[in-house]
Formats: sequence, structure tokens, C-alpha cells
Amino acid sequence: MISEPATIIASAAYLPPNRVKNSHFESYLDTSDSWIYERTGIKERRWADMGVKASDMGVFAATEVLKKANMEPKDLDLILVATMTPDQPLPSTAALIQSKLAGCKAPAMDISAACSGYLYGLSVAKAFIEAGMYKNILLVGCEKMSQVLDPNDRSTIILFGDGAGASVITSGGKGLRIDNIILGLDGNLANSLYIPQGGSMKMFGQEVFKTAIQRGVEVIEKLLEKEKLLIENIRYVIFHQANMRIIQNIQKRFQIPEEKIPTTIEYTANTSAASIPILLESISHEQNQRYMSVAFGAGFTYAGAIFTSL
Ligand code: COA
Repeated sequence: MISEPATIIASAAYLPPNRVKNSHFESYLDTSDSWIYERTGIKERRWADMGVKASDMGVFAATEVLKKANMEPKDLDLILVATMTPDQPLPSTAALIQSKLAGCKAPAMDISAACSGYLYGLSVAKAFIEAGMYKNILLVGCEKMSQVLDPNDRSTIILFGDGAGASVITSGGKGLRIDNIILGLDGNLANSLYIPQGGSMKMFGQEVFKTAIQRGVEVIEKLLEKEKLLIENIRYVIFHQANMRIIQNIQKRFQIPEEKIPTTIEYTANTSAASIPILLESISHEQNQRYMSVAFGAGFTYAGAIFTSL
């Protein structure tokens, strides 16, 4: 099989209908709407109902993106699911999503790289496609973050939201051609953000904040060097939506104009592996532009990608 460059031909998002405003936390925690907004840029997040699982949200986004890509589940060669909130330990959330996509026979697997999961997944999709092994890959990022948070921990409960995003990546085609991806991991910071077996999320917020900025800056510098680009050549920088102040710190370092940095954090909060595909869906497509994406998360993982819009 002659392979063409891996290209994201469509992306779609799903957000559960239940909006949780910052004022919800004022009612039982020592916090305020203004503290949360000023320190994070978040005004509200969506939380899924009790019975709704990450795979259910993933299926909504997957169904939508297949429609956009003019494809049916049977056309898929592989399903990749990035999640840190799997429905259950076994089988994978990817297997559960495959079972809910009627007629789909594709092999499927999960990718566990926390908030960098979508870009890690994209690198796997690119490698499979460009090795000539598969042609049509579905990549889903789906998270039910509300199920792993301690409602009484004011430093984490305010930060995260539920949701899903999905992309179809094909060999060639029109959309976002994936030119380059870099991945990284600081395993020695594994304890800065973690979920113990059967427990809820623990986070050293300042350490995560500082590392996210440091690694975000490094990723951008490396990508620009590899692709021989200047930051001025980039049309959009698509950041993982963790905290508006992390984004603004990196933005200042490179003097990136605000209009080049689309965001959803104000109304989605941090949806982990779903945040980048949710954001991708909201961006209008402009031809012959270079786009960049940057992510960081537990692990401590980080990743970056450069695209050309075709
Ligand atoms: N409301 C009010 N006060 C809060 C609060 C809240 N929701 N959360 C924490 N605080 C308090 C702290 O307890 C601390 O109080 P103390 O001084 O009495 O001990 C004070 O605010 C300052 O804490 P600090 O951790 O220095 O605040 P901060 O400015 O760093 O903001 C975070 C806290 C969590 C918002 C910030 O560290 C952060 O966003 N970190 C990155 C988290 C992240 O993005 N994780 C996902 C990565 S993918």
C-alpha cells in the first residue's frame, strides 16, 4: 500500500447538557466565582449524569465525526481512545466504543497519557498510516472527569469537566495534514498529579502549573526549529485547555496575538484528552495555513504537533 501523509479530515465534539457554574462550589466550599475565574479562566463546566460513562460520550462524538467524514463504522481500520477515566479496568474503553458502533469490526485500544492523550494518539495514528498499515483511523478523546474528583478538594473539583472529542485520520485527504509530532515525559514527576487505585485525584497545583509552562515553551521551540518556522508563521496555536493563566504565560513568552489562540476553557473547563478535539471542532478551517497544538498533563506527559491546513 502506498501511504500518503496522515491527515485529520474531520473532528467533532460532544458536551453533556448539564452545566455546572462556579457558583455551585460557593454553596459548600470556601471558594468564589471570582477566585476561580481569575485563577483559571473557568466560568462553568459540563458534568455528565451518573449513568453516563466516558464511552457513551465517546460514541456521541464518534458518530458525529463519522457523519462529517462521510464514513460508516465499517470503514474504520482502527479505533484509538485516549482516556484517563475508562468506564472500567477491563476491557478497554476502545473495545466498548467499538461494540456501540454498529457494524464496526476494527481493532481498538486505549491510550493512557492523561491530558496529552489526544496528541499521543495522533502520533500512533500517523505512524500506522504512514507505515502503510491502516488507511482510516478513528481517534476519540473522552473523559468523565467528574467521577475521579473529590468534591471537597477545592483545588481540583473546580478545574475539570466531562466531554468527548473525536477525529477521523486518513491516508491523504483534505483537512489538517499532520506534519510533525513530538512527545515527551518526565516520569520523575509522576506524583505531581495522580489518581490512586480506587481513590480520587491528587494534585500539587503549583508544580503542575510551573512544569506545564516550562514544557509548553520547550515544545513550541522544538517544533519551530524542526519545521524551520517562526511563531509568526503559525495561524492558530491550539493549547490543551487546563488553565487560562498557563496559556497566557506561554503566549507572553512568544508574543502570540490573542486572536491566534482559540479557547473553550471558559465553558468546558479542563476535559483532559477531549480538550484538543473539542477545540479543533470550534475552529474555522482556513486553507494553506500552519497550525500548532501543545498539550501537557499527568505523567508528566507533554506533546506538540504541527499541521498544514489543506
Ligand atoms: N478557591 C479558593 N482558594 C483556593 C482554591 C479555590 N478553588 N484552590 C486553592 N485555593 C487556595 C489554596 O488552598 C491556597 O490557600 P493557602 O494559601 O491558605 O494555603 C491558595 O489558594 C493559593 O494556592 P496556590 O496553589 O498557590 O494557588 P494557585 O494560584 O497556584 O492556583 C490552581 C491553584 C490549582 C488553580 C493552580 O495551581 C493550577 O491551575 N495549577 C495547574 C493545575 C492544572 O492545570 N492541572 C491539570 C494539568 S493538565
